[in-house]
This record gives sequence, C-alpha cells and structure tokens, in this order.
Amino acid sequence: MYKFLLVLFLLFSTLYSNEPIQPLPKIVKYDREKALLGKKLYFDPILSKDNTISCASCHNLELGGVDNLKFSFGIKGQKGIINTPTVLNSIFNFRQMWDGRTKTLAHQVQFPITNPVEMGNSFQNLIKTLKNNSYYNETFNNIYKNGITIENIGDALEEFQKTLITPSAFDDYLRGDENAITSNQKKGYELFFKKGCVSCHNGINIGGGLYAQFGLTDEEMAHNLTNQSTNDNVTKNEYNPDLGLYNITKNDFDKFYFKVPTLRNVALTYPYLHNGRIETLNETISSIAKAQLGLDLTKEETFLIEEFLKSLNGKVTIIE
Ligand code: HEC
Ligand code: HEC
Repeated sequence: MYKFLLVLFLLFSTLYSNEPIQPLPKIVKYDREKALLGKKLYFDPILSKDNTISCASCHNLELGGVDNLKFSFGIKGQKGIINTPTVLNSIFNFRQMWDGRTKTLAHQVQFPITNPVEMGNSFQNLIKTLKNNSYYNETFNNIYKNGITIENIGDALEEFQKTLITPSAFDDYLRGDENAITSNQKKGYELFFKKGCVSCHNGINIGGGLYAQFGLTDEEMAHNLTNQSTNDNVTKNEYNPDLGLYNITKNDFDKFYFKVPTLRNVALTYPYLHNGRIETLNETISSIAKAQLGLDLTKEETFLIEEFLKSLNGKVTIIE
C-alpha cells in the first residue's frame, strides 16, 4: 500500500513542479580542443588491453549509443553481465551507471577501461601506451599541464561526450512548435503524464534524475524478469547486477533500486531493462506500467505511448 502512496506522492510532486520535462538546451558548452582529443580516444581501441575494443564498440553512435545486444562483448570475446545503456545525452544524468555508482562522466570512464570483461586494461599500462604514441603524447602535453593522466583521459572523454546530445522532434514541440509531433504522439504524451510515467521519467533526459525500485508495484513480475537474466549470465560474479543500488550501499532497502533510465532515443536502444530481458519497446511499456505503476494498459494506450516515445529519437552531430 505504501508503495502506491509513494507513486502518488511522486506523481503529485512532479505535476505541481513547474515543468516536469524540459527540452534539451540548444547549446552545451564544451572545450573544443579537449573534445576533439576525447573523440579520438572514444573511437580508439588503444584504450583496451589488447587493442581490440573501443568505447564505440559497445556504444555505437549510429545505433542510438548502444550495440543492441543483450550483453556486450569485451576483450577476448567475453560477455558482460548488464545491458549497455546509451552514452547519448548522458551528461544530463544525475549519476552514471544503472546503479549510479559514479557521478561524473570523467570518472565513469575508469570503470570500462579496467573492467576485465570490457577493456581489461590497467591505468599504468594505458598511460605507458599513450605516452609511446606521438599524437597522444603531444596533444595531451599541449592541452594539460600534467600531460597524460587517468584524470585527463577522463576529462577529454567527458568533453567529447558533452557533444553527444540529440535534439528531437519532441524538443521542438516543447519549445512551441505544435506541428513537430503527430497527433498520436500528442495523445501518447498526455497518457505518459496521466498514467504517471512522468513521476519517474522527467527532467531534460526524461529519466536519469532519480533512483526508483524496479518492481515498485509488482515485485513478482520484476523478479521473474530478473531471475531469468541471472541464470543466463555467463560470468559468475559476486556482483549481482540485478540488485542495483544495493551493490553500493549494502543497505537492504536499496535492493532492486536503479537509476531511472533516460527515454531519449529509447526506440533505438533495444533490448530493454538493465538485463536486456525484453526485446520490444511495446512489451517494455506494458510490463513497466504493471511493474512500476500497477497498471494494465490497453493495447491502444501502449501503442500511443510507444508513438510518443518515438518522438524522442534525435540525431547526434559528431564534431569535426
Ligand atoms: C564492453 C562494452 C563497453 C565498453 C567498451 C564501454 N562501455 Fe560504457 N557501458 C557499458 C555497460 C555494460 C555499462 C553499464 C554498466 C553498469 O551500469 O554497471 C556502461 C555504462 C556507460 C555509461 C553510463 C551511462 C548511463 O546512463 O548510466 C557511460 C557514460 C559510458 N558507459 C561511457 C563509456 C565510455 C566513454 C567508454 C570508453 C572509455 C565506454 N563506455 C566503454 C559497456 C561498455
Ligand atoms: C516509479 C518509477 C517509474 C515509473 C512510474 C515508470 N518508470 Fe520506466 N523505468 C523505471 C526504472 C527504475 C527503470 C529501469 C528498470 C530496470 O531496468 O531494471 C525503467 C525503465 C523503463 C524503460 C526501459 C528503458 C531502457 O532503456 O531499458 C521504459 C521504456 C520505460 N521505463 C517507460 C516507462 C513508461 C512508459 C512508464 C509509464 C507507463 C514508466 N516507465 C513508468 C522507473 C519508472
């Protein structure tokens, strides 16, 4: 019961805050020199131990910032244990990662670089490799007083990621262009509000701004969806990705809490959920409505919300 009250509270507090959803800012400031260095790093497998995997291998900018796999592959064909979220617009998330374990994009990059099933590198080895590369050695030394350090690698990658924002038809609509989205999309947006999705998916990223329990109103459904993913994990790991925030705090109340994901470009970033368990957006919407709001949406409602979510697809312009 208290969970329903919590949803109601979230809903009312968002509805009565000024604007629960804001358009992407038209300009995000970034340092061009650093961003160009970050771009080079982003696409360069030199970051991985055996020179085979780049950030772009898992976060393909042509594919909505993901790879459309349930779990990505790192060095030596190793499979990950949690679905790859998009990098697009991630500068607007209040924290990074499904469990929000890190705040800044600059710090975030330290995780994939050293994760044994992703890039499998060490900072020491990476810094040595970059120092032996004349482009990186010169460029880092020109831009940063202290040259190549793990913090500066993170900083350059963060500057590049600030450019990865995707203005969409929906942003034009929010700014007053009534014709930017279709009438079905408008109906879907209305439902998105009325049904309460907006209580969690709000802000510039329509998500990315708070933690919420997966399975708030239907734990059984959420657990059925998660148990399955744990069973087919290939890597036996102490870290149970299905437990979310609990992994950081070890506080029982935090079990199954995740950062609410952004819904920008969500029509492109299948499969869905932290465990990549659901293939289609349509099924995700109806399952999430049940798991997070205790609602059985009709086919028509699910269709309309899906149409609305498609208006959040945007185009990324890669800096030259
Ligand atoms: C082998 C695949 C793989 C590679 C390589 C990889 N990532 Fe990721 N990335 C992931 C996965 C999986 C997650 C989610 C991890 C988690 O939440 O525990 C993630 C999360 C992120 C996030 C957080 C997004 C969010 O919404 O929380 C950002 C930003 C990111 N990666 C950027 C990068 C950058 C920059 C690089 C290169 C230095 C990189 N990634 C390399 C798979 C990868
Ligand atoms: C109480 C908070 C809450 C509410 C309300 C909520 N969501 Fe979510 N949503 C989440 C969380 C948390 C996740 C991530 C769950 C996971 O992966 O374990 C999520 C995931 C999603 C995803 C999958 C995103 C991805 O990248 O995998 C979609 C789509 C989605 N929600 C749409 C909706 C829609 C549509 C509604 C309204 C019918 C809604 N949500 C209501 C918290 C919420």
